[in-house]
Amino acid sequence: MADATPEETAPYGTGPATPPAPAGRKRVRTHTLQQMKDRGEKWTMLTAYDQYTAATFDEAGVEVLLVGDSASNNVYGNESSLPVTVDELIPLVRAVSRSAKHSLVLADLPFGSYQGSPEQAFHTAVRFMKEAGAHAVKLEGGLAMVPQVKLLTDAGIPVCAHIGFTPQAEHNLGGYRVQGRGEGAALLVQEALALEAAGAFAVVMEMVPAPIAAEVTKALHISSVGIGAGIDCDAQVLVWQDMLGLNTGKAPRFVKRYADLHTVMLDATRAYVDDVKGGAFPTAEHSFAE
Ligand code: KIV
Repeated sequence: MADATPEETAPYGTGPATPPAPAGRKRVRTHTLQQMKDRGEKWTMLTAYDQYTAATFDEAGVEVLLVGDSASNNVYGNESSLPVTVDELIPLVRAVSRSAKHSLVLADLPFGSYQGSPEQAFHTAVRFMKEAGAHAVKLEGGLAMVPQVKLLTDAGIPVCAHIGFTPQAEHNLGGYRVQGRGEGAALLVQEALALEAAGAFAVVMEMVPAPIAAEVTKALHISSVGIGAGIDCDAQVLVWQDMLGLNTGKAPRFVKRYADLHTVMLDATRAYVDDVKGGAFPTAEHSFAE
C-alpha cells in the first residue's frame, strides 16, 4: 500500500465532511430557547443517537437533540425504556455531542439513575456532562422530582423536566395512557409550575389533551415541549425513527411520518443483494487497477 492514495486508505464510514451550516448560526443554549419562547417563536427537538443523524438534524436546524432513553427501544431492541443503563447511553450521547455543531445536546437520565435522591441525580448528570459532553439533562416526574431539579440547576446543570405520560413509570400509570384528564389537569399545572420554580429550563409534556397542554403552556414562563400534547406547546419533540418512517410498527396517534426510510433502505438493500448475486457489483468502477 506504499503508493495508496488517501481515498484508498480512508476508513470505512468516513464520508465527506458535513457541509458548513448557514453562516451566523450559533450554538443553541437554554437562553436561546427562552428568547424564542419570549418572542412566541416555536422551536424543535428530535431524538438522535448517533453521528450521522445528529449531523443531519443539526444541519436542518433542529434546536435540541435529545439522546432519549428511547434508545432502549430504538437502538438496543428492548421492549421499553426501562432496561437501558447509563453506561449504554453515555457512548450515544458522546457520538451526538461530537457531531452536533449548533444544536443543544440533551441527555435523558435513564430509569433508576436519579429517582433515588437528588445526590444520585447529581452524580448521574455529572457523568453525562463530563464523560459524554451533554449540555443539559432530562428527567421524568412531577413534584417528587423538584429536589432533584433544584440541586442540579443550583450546581449549574440545565434540566428539562418531563411530565404527563412518563414512560419510565408505565407500570405505575397502567400502561400508555393520556394523562391530565379531569382532576389531573390541575395537578399537571401545579407540577409544571413547581418544576419551573425549581429551575427547569423546559418541560416536556407527553400525551396530554391539547387544551390542558395549552393551559400549562400559558401558565409557564419557560418552554413547554409537546409530544402528543397539541399545537399550543412552545416546542415539539418526536422520536426520529417514528418521524422518518424507519420504524414500521404501529405509530402512536401523535406521530407524523415525514418519510418512509424503511422502504428506501429495503429497496436499496434488495438491489445490492441482487447486484452481488447477479454479478453486477462490483464493476471496474469500484475496483482497483493493478
Ligand atoms: O426518550 C425519549 O425519546 C423521550 C421523548 C419521547 C420525549 O423522552
